[in-house]
Amino acid sequence: MIRLIYISTARSVLSEQELDEILRVSRRNNQAVEVTGLLIVGGRRFLQALEGPAEAVMKTYDRIKADGRHFAAVILSDREIAKRSFSEWAMGYQPAGMPRAEGTVANDVAELIAPITDPIVYAYFAEFAKKHAA
Ligand SMILES: Cc1cc2nc3c(=O)[nH]c(=O)nc-3n(C[C@H](O)[C@H](O)[C@H](O)COP(=O)(O)O)c2cc1C
Repeated sequence: MIRLIYISTARSVLSEQELDEILRVSRRNNQAVEVTGLLIVGGRRFLQALEGPAEAVMKTYDRIKADGRHFAAVILSDREIAKRSFSEWAMGYQPAGMPRAEGTVANDVAELIAPITDPIVYAYFAEFAKKHAA
């Protein structure tokens, strides 16, 4: 099992409907191949973690990378893992600039990333959230 984390940049800021559609398709596809993960959107920046069987993660990443809605995908981390950090989400999601019903963006992200035990993975998401929630 591996976990791959990458950042990329949207061609243009995606509407809520466009993001909803990406999530709907992602959850359906990921579930079918036992991929789980988290997507955080901050302005035009994406930070996404994909974890699961190596072949499924790489196939998923190759497809995502070829998606014309974003570009400049850079892998931050790609390694073997013994345990999932996002086992409960086919694709968890948090728009970094938009708080949920109540509370703050920082709290929402903190809640989402709480299950991450790997300190490096945690740091990527915490830093990204801090930067884009500002
Ligand atoms: C930022 C971003 C993240 C994405 N994440 C996923 C994902 O986790 N899983 C997935 O299957 N597709 C994801 N997609 C969509 C894929 O690029 C692609 O459109 C989709 O997998 C095609 O699925 P389909 O052949 O079932 O229509 C993502 C796209 C973007 C722009």
